[in-house]
Amino acid sequence: MSTQEQQFELLIEGILANGYAVCDNFLTSNEVLLLLNAFSARYEAGSFKEAGIGKQSEVHKSSLIRGDEILWLENSTQDSAERVLLQHNQAFINYLNQTCYLGIKSSEVHFAKYATGKFYRRHRDSFQAQKGRILSVIYYLNTDWIPEHGGNLVIYTQQNGMEESISIAPLAGRMVCFESDKLDHEVTQTHAERLSITGWFLNHS
Ligand code: OGA
Ligand code: MN
Repeated sequence: MSTQEQQFELLIEGILANGYAVCDNFLTSNEVLLLLNAFSARYEAGSFKEAGIGKQSEVHKSSLIRGDEILWLENSTQDSAERVLLQHNQAFINYLNQTCYLGIKSSEVHFAKYATGKFYRRHRDSFQAQKGRILSVIYYLNTDWIPEHGGNLVIYTQQNGMEESISIAPLAGRMVCFESDKLDHEVTQTHAERLSITGWFLNHS
């Protein structure tokens, strides 16, 4: 089994057991660097937008709930770093479809930047206006991250009827995935710029 297949197996075990899984060093440090370059080039080109929630008509309420700025990746991107990222996703999708019959048909992926002070309140990724998200997959790009920076992903789970939570720091190279329709989660306030790439695997094309 290749290293990548071993990582996929561990991720799937975690998802089956807990609904979520974390894989450190999923991206190499070189991939992180290339993606950071692509990220800042896109950001400087000025194409990021304040993220919304739910229906577009409610975007004005969004900043109380989430403060990130996002840019959707094009599936047809010619940027080599972005292509590597999309290929990682596609390899995972293929593996999930072959081994777990998940029937994933497509994916959507965005860069996300949380400036200092920003957060994303507790939510679920698959809601009424946003059906069809099976799995949420997040990659972090923050080198030199320390606990004082906050900005953790907190995932809430139910254990024997009791709620538990787990805090995951957005460390460079780390990948987290979880079932989009089952787990509430939030991003706690960040005290440093926090960069990530978030994707969803969808049951429709
Ligand atoms: C999201 C989200 C978590 C994170 O974009 O929906 O929950 O850790 N992101 O960036
Ligand atoms: Mn989310």
